[in-house]
Amino acid sequence: MPSVGTAAVALFLLVIASTAGAQLSHKYYSTTCPGLQPLVRRIIDQALSQDPTLGAALLRLFFHDCFVNGCDASVLLDDTATFAGEKNAAPNMNSLRGFQVIDAIKSSVEAKCRQTVSCADILALAARDSVAALGGPYWAVYLGRRDSRTASQREAVANLPPPGASLSTMVSSFGAKGLAAWDTIALSGAHTIGQARCANFRQHIYNDTDVDPGFAGVRQLACPASGGDSITAPLDVQTPMVFDNDYYRNLVARKGLLHSDQQLFNGGQYDYLVSLYSTNQTAFFDDFATAMVKMGDMSPLTGSVGEIRTNCRRWN
Ligand code: HEM
Ligand SMILES: *[C@@H]1O[C@H](CO)[C@@H](O)[C@H](O)[C@H]1NC(C)=O
Ligand SMILES: *[C@@H]1O[C@H](CO)[C@@H](O)[C@H](O)[C@H]1NC(C)=O
Repeated sequence: MPSVGTAAVALFLLVIASTAGAQLSHKYYSTTCPGLQPLVRRIIDQALSQDPTLGAALLRLFFHDCFVNGCDASVLLDDTATFAGEKNAAPNMNSLRGFQVIDAIKSSVEAKCRQTVSCADILALAARDSVAALGGPYWAVYLGRRDSRTASQREAVANLPPPGASLSTMVSSFGAKGLAAWDTIALSGAHTIGQARCANFRQHIYNDTDVDPGFAGVRQLACPASGGDSITAPLDVQTPMVFDNDYYRNLVARKGLLHSDQQLFNGGQYDYLVSLYSTNQTAFFDDFATAMVKMGDMSPLTGSVGEIRTNCRRWN
C-alpha cells in the first residue's frame, strides 16, 4: 500500500534526522580534550583585545559555513590549483575575515589534543565566544561535528542571501535550512556588530525610500554613488563593537544599513518581532541563542563521515 510505504519512509527519515542531531553533545570532548573550551575562549579574548572587529568576522564565518552544505568547515578550505572552494564565492570574496584566528586556535588545540577536535566545532565555539566577549548572550555549544573533504562555490552563491534580498526571499532561504521566520529575524540581529562595504549598501542609501534621510545623507558622505566599493560602514550605527539590541532600535528608526536589514521592519509580517527585540534585549538574546544552536545543528557530518582536519585550510 502506498500510504504504508510513505509512512514507513517518513518514519525512517525521522529516525535518521533525530539520530543525526542526537550525535552532537555538549560533552563530546570532555574526556578526549578536557580544557578545550577555556583554551578557545582564551585565544578569542586575546584576538579581540587586539582587534575587537574580529568578533563580527568570526560570527559571520560560522553562518557562512553552516548555510553551505551544513556546519562542516567547508568555508575554511583554501583554493588550490585544481579546487575552487567557497572563499572566493561572491558573498565571501574580499569580505570574510578571521581565518588566522581559527588557525591559531587549531594549532593550540592540535598541540593539546592531536587530531581530535574538528574545525567545524572550533568555528561553533569561536562564534559563541565572540558573541559573549562582545556583551551578547552565552549558550552551550553542541559538539561532535566532523570536517568536510570538499566545498562548493556554487552552493555558497545559491544559499547565502544577498544584501538586496527581500523579506520573503530571506524567510524562504532560511526556511530551506529548517529555520523558522522568527529564527531569521533573531539571527539577523548579528548585524548589531561588524561592517559592510559600500557596494553592498549603496543602492539602499541612495535609492530606497524606507531610509531615514539624515542617516542616508551621513552614509552617502563615505559611500559615493559610484566608486569606493570597498569603503566600509558599521552595520549598527550606534554601537558596532557591542552585541546588544541596537540593531532593532535602528530598524525601527529606519537606520538599517542594508536593504535586507530594513526589509525586516518595513510594514511587513514580522515588524512586531523587530519592535519586541528593540524594547526587550532579553527576548532577543534568548531567541538569538536558541537560533544559533539550531543553525549549528544543520546537517552535521558525524560518525565516520568526513574527517578531523589537522589544518583547517586543507583536507588531510
Ligand atoms: C538574513 C540574511 C543576511 C544577509 C542578506 C546578510 C548580508 C550581509 C552583508 C552583505 C554583509 C556585509 C559584507 C561586506 O560588505 O563585506 C554582512 C556582514 C555581516 N553579517 Fe550578515 N547577512 C545575513 C545574515 C547574517 C547572519 C544570520 C549572521 C550571523 C548569525 C550574520 C552575520 C554578519 C556579521 C557579523 C557581519 C559583519 C562581518 C564583519 O564585520 O566582518 N549575517 N552580512
Ligand atoms: C538609483 O536608481 C537610478 C534609477 O534606477 C539608477 O540610474 C541609479 O544608478 C541608482 N543609483 C544608485 C546609487 O544605485
Ligand atoms: C522580555 O523578554 C523576556 C524573555 O522572553 C521576558 O521574560 C520578559 O518578561 C520580557 N520583559 C518585558 C518587560 O516584557
